[in-house]
Amino acid sequence: MTARPALDAQRLRADFPIFEQKIHGKPLAYLDSAASSQKPRQVLDTVRDFYETSYANVHRGVYTLSEKATAAYEGAREKAREFVNAPAARELIFTRSATESINLVAYAWGLDNLGPGDVALVTELEHHSNFVPWQYIAKRTGAEFRMLPIDDHGELRLDELDELAGGGRMKVVAANLVSNSLGTVNPVARLSSWAHERGAIMVVDAAQGAPHHRVDVQELDCDFLAFSSHKLCGPTGAGALWGRAELLERMAPFNLGGHMIRQVRLEETTWGELPYKFEAGTQPIAEVVGFGAAMDYVAEVGLDAIAEYESALAAYALERLAEVGGVTTYGPPAERRAGIVSFNVEGIHPHDVAQVLDSEGVAIRAGHHCCQPLMARLGVAATNRASFYLYTLPDEIDRLVEGLYKARKILG
Ligand SMILES: Cc1ncc(COP(=O)(O)O)c(C=O)c1O
Repeated sequence: MTARPALDAQRLRADFPIFEQKIHGKPLAYLDSAASSQKPRQVLDTVRDFYETSYANVHRGVYTLSEKATAAYEGAREKAREFVNAPAARELIFTRSATESINLVAYAWGLDNLGPGDVALVTELEHHSNFVPWQYIAKRTGAEFRMLPIDDHGELRLDELDELAGGGRMKVVAANLVSNSLGTVNPVARLSSWAHERGAIMVVDAAQGAPHHRVDVQELDCDFLAFSSHKLCGPTGAGALWGRAELLERMAPFNLGGHMIRQVRLEETTWGELPYKFEAGTQPIAEVVGFGAAMDYVAEVGLDAIAEYESALAAYALERLAEVGGVTTYGPPAERRAGIVSFNVEGIHPHDVAQVLDSEGVAIRAGHHCCQPLMARLGVAATNRASFYLYTLPDEIDRLVEGLYKARKILG
């Protein structure tokens, strides 16, 4: 890689204790950050410190420790607000994952707002998390479920939108910001404006986008945006949903139980204010606090620097993979993709490729990446996928390529 990187991945790597170990006697080359990212010491220390000094259940206690825990938890909400540039912190709801965030919208908005004659539109690039909930709720409500196709570069066919809208009332458009399978960066702001022209809402799955690109819900002009802690250097078990207050206020709750109520009587229960109406039960408190620390960490590295660095890594990976004979890569050119490269090696099953690479200490993913409709479009059952983050070194891409030569020699 010749371009001078805007961030120093070698220096950042020192923050991640996981890289201190060897795998099969080789340094760990972790090329699976799209599945889940590794965690820096700053996040691990925050979670440990929170448990050791400030842990209690939040919101309910009048004692000092509960107030401390509540301040840390609500502090994370403010960090999430700032991270996606939302107008108000009460529009940010903590969930357990991006999947739960999308299900919240599909159930709590979809069940009351979709019906016969309405259309829910997703894209061929969706992760099952933003595909199956809409398909299911459409079926339950009698709405139509349609899919915007991609072209041969793995980019959305925006030219097909108007035709797809024909003969139905477009009610919701759901799309990811970055495809977890091909790395395609989708033109979500254009989709939002198209959706709004038709009176539909725009739901953005930013599980893959938020860790790697600056996200601004006001610029995207979307209505809901889901993201996740564990792909963003934070703990598992925590996610976030941003939604427009006017929509969230009109929606029924998703989970019911403690903490989300105003008053409970035998005859009727009334709901609490935003965001608590959507945060039933004990939340993943320490995980959310760790999520806050992760957003601080990533923001300090700089999302523009991360995006630029990953794009350079993707370009380098595409260039190096092209040198290995019999490798097919999928997706758009590097300048329109995040740090994700899916590929297949002719005649070798992706799982076998991944196994040979593991013996070299190189961790990549093999499978359908929770994108079966996309795999069908590509005409494959599975691909290999290498994905990068702020701690990825070009040298690890070289090791990936060397591993592929070895796989071809052994299995090809
Ligand atoms: C694009 C995309 N959407 C949604 C998800 C699901 O996120 P979570 O694991 O937080 O439920 C993933 C995870 O792989 C993803 O890549």
